[in-house]
Amino acid sequence: MLKPVIEPSVNAEDFAGQASWAAPSNIAIVKYWGKHGVQLPRNPSVSMTLSKALTGTRLHWRPGTGRLVAFSASGEADAQFADRVAAYLSKMALEHPALARLDFGVETENAFPHSSGIASSASGFAALALGLASAVVAESQGAEASLPEDGPAFRSFAGRLARLGSGSASRSLCGPWMAWGQTEAFADNAEKPTDDHAVPLDHVHADFRTWRDAIAIVDAGKKAVSSSAGHRLMEGNPFAETRFANARQRTLALDRALREGDTDTFVQIAEAEALELHALMMSSKPSYILMRPGTLAVIQAVQEFRADTDLPLCFTLDAGPNVHLLYPASAAAQVEEFIHDAVRRYCDDGRVLMDAAGEGPTRLGPAKA
Ligand code: DP6
Repeated sequence: MLKPVIEPSVNAEDFAGQASWAAPSNIAIVKYWGKHGVQLPRNPSVSMTLSKALTGTRLHWRPGTGRLVAFSASGEADAQFADRVAAYLSKMALEHPALARLDFGVETENAFPHSSGIASSASGFAALALGLASAVVAESQGAEASLPEDGPAFRSFAGRLARLGSGSASRSLCGPWMAWGQTEAFADNAEKPTDDHAVPLDHVHADFRTWRDAIAIVDAGKKAVSSSAGHRLMEGNPFAETRFANARQRTLALDRALREGDTDTFVQIAEAEALELHALMMSSKPSYILMRPGTLAVIQAVQEFRADTDLPLCFTLDAGPNVHLLYPASAAAQVEEFIHDAVRRYCDDGRVLMDAAGEGPTRLGPAKA
């Protein structure tokens, strides 16, 4: 079968409808690592939504058959990403009849530097899924036509679509704290976390709502192993069941710590999860060592700073070498001086991205004609 032609630029006049959303990335404290079925997590995960690491996506649509017909990334077409988006859109056409009756144009742009080593799949799929949810609202008759875009039903629907693109993207639909996956924790939350989509956490202590995340870019290169391949490695991992049990138990402990403002427990969980994620990759077949010497140097500097100052600065890692330094706003002055003096030297070009807890996506105005 011939591959459909995807135009490398989007001409708004070729389309009938459009919606633009900016969505942030997020940083997990309890990690999602291991999935089954249709993008379902093996364990619950909990994350802080960021505010500056954003992707802006304008989705255009017109009557069609659920295909991507035009795509541009940061103004330039990126063939590999276009293929992933095309495959995603044809899957989403099976999720909702309104989407199966449309063809799409996608323009997408990241607010963070392209080669920063920051994964854009969470923010990218969150922004795209919100566009699809807007298209469903605009193109449906029945009850969906009147779903308010700032309400929980719209967010849950978009969160499910985002999960189907990239699991962690479901946690980028709101802020400042989100949980995804079935758990005994957060029992009195207005919305129960489910495997289907992530939900915002209601009972988070005021101090945790303004935490910062400084991302030390130890290596700006491309990821050595894709998340999807990484999740698959959990299937034969000898420590898998212990890991899933640990994550469930830490989700319960993090629930208590977040609501009580217990920074000691928070620090302990964040670092244990980061190191366990990397231990799992090291013990997978094949094995991956994704930390670099600079990663360990930053980790050690963070732990020494904490021992010296008693300030609750801690680190976490994603599936790569860069280090996220997490700290409360009240410690910002000392921590940021420390970053300048003792962390930048281990970073690619001295790069540290300063981010903070955020409130989630925003709908952007329509394009000016
Ligand atoms: C290590 O959400 O990127 O960042 O569902 O295959 O797209 P897919 O995986 P993805 O996995 C994220 C893994 C992680 C931990 C986390 O964010 O929870």
